Amino acid sequence: MELILGIETSCDETAAALLDENRRVIASTMHSQVDLHARYGGVVPEIAGRSHVETILPVLEEVFEKAGVRPRDVGSVAVTFCPGLIGSLLVGVSCAKAFAAAQRIPLIPVNHVEAHVYSCFHEHEEVTLPAACLVVSGGHTSLYWVESLTRYECVGRTIDDAAGEAFDKVAALLDLPYPGGPVIDRLAKEGDPRAISFPRSMLGPTSLDFSFSGLKTAVLYHCRGPKGKEPREISEQETRDIAASFQEAVIDVLLKKMLRLVESREAKSLALGGGVAANGRLRERAQALADQRRLPLYLAPRALTTDNAVMVAGLGRLLYDVGVRGDLALDATPHGITCLPS
Ligand code: KG4
Ligand code: ZN
Repeated sequence: MELILGIETSCDETAAALLDENRRVIASTMHSQVDLHARYGGVVPEIAGRSHVETILPVLEEVFEKAGVRPRDVGSVAVTFCPGLIGSLLVGVSCAKAFAAAQRIPLIPVNHVEAHVYSCFHEHEEVTLPAACLVVSGGHTSLYWVESLTRYECVGRTIDDAAGEAFDKVAALLDLPYPGGPVIDRLAKEGDPRAISFPRSMLGPTSLDFSFSGLKTAVLYHCRGPKGKEPREISEQETRDIAASFQEAVIDVLLKKMLRLVESREAKSLALGGGVAANGRLRERAQALADQRRLPLYLAPRALTTDNAVMVAGLGRLLYDVGVRGDLALDATPHGITCLPS
């Protein structure tokens, strides 16, 4: 059996996975640092990097133990090398290089956001393409044109905050715990999405880019007055209404941009991945859009929405098949560099 090992350390999750040559998951482990960062209301890069150093070997040991295999059963190793926090990425990349050198096996570089794109299709034997794919997470909000499982083109991205970051910041403003996305998701279910009319920034009639900083500021002014410095009492019901109205504004923009891409290039399917793709209302409205357009929707399975190594090993396996290889000179980089074949 020729296994592929995937390693993911781009932000605050330390993850490893073992997949077989058909991309079936043999074992997967993930250690989240969320408790370490919660009191700061966001990921602290220094703390993240140090925690990966402590956790990476136990996470690897655990994945081998779960799978009941040994390192010598692995035929290749895929690793996230960009984009992300440099101190975090370095830990995974160094570890993968050491593993590849020790076992004398190929090393495959994987772009984290491209792995999120892949995650939408991971559980499907056959997919209808081209797809308009939205990756929405704490660090990224991007639209991709997916021609094949190894050909993606990034056609839109955020010019300021990522959607998940906006969820986290609005939650902090409402004195809700970190990470804010799941809490807002839950509260919004009992709120009125039409209670407050927050702005929807479209950046012009044809743009596929995103901007969420204006929306974030609008929520700040709504809660703390026109200068953002006059906190007032906000009732539980108003908190739910703000959560629902904010969430609806984010989703309106995300889906409108997706629809622009669908219409301008005649997409044959839709896809949705990344941490924010766990959002119940976003999943529901994306499904309604797909049904209305009679297009298949590929939703990342919930377990693969947050950062994980299954998506890294899965895309790594496809890249291996088309000849993508890294070597010991592979460097981690915070920037997004594609490693798909041109
Ligand atoms: O993909 P991910 O684990 O990390 C990055 O690559 O950034 O995404 C984490 C982000 C956080 O901002 C979190 O608040 C958001 O995803 N998130 C959600 C939900 N679950 C997680 N946002 C909205 N609704 C959710 N249910
Ligand atoms: Zn991610």
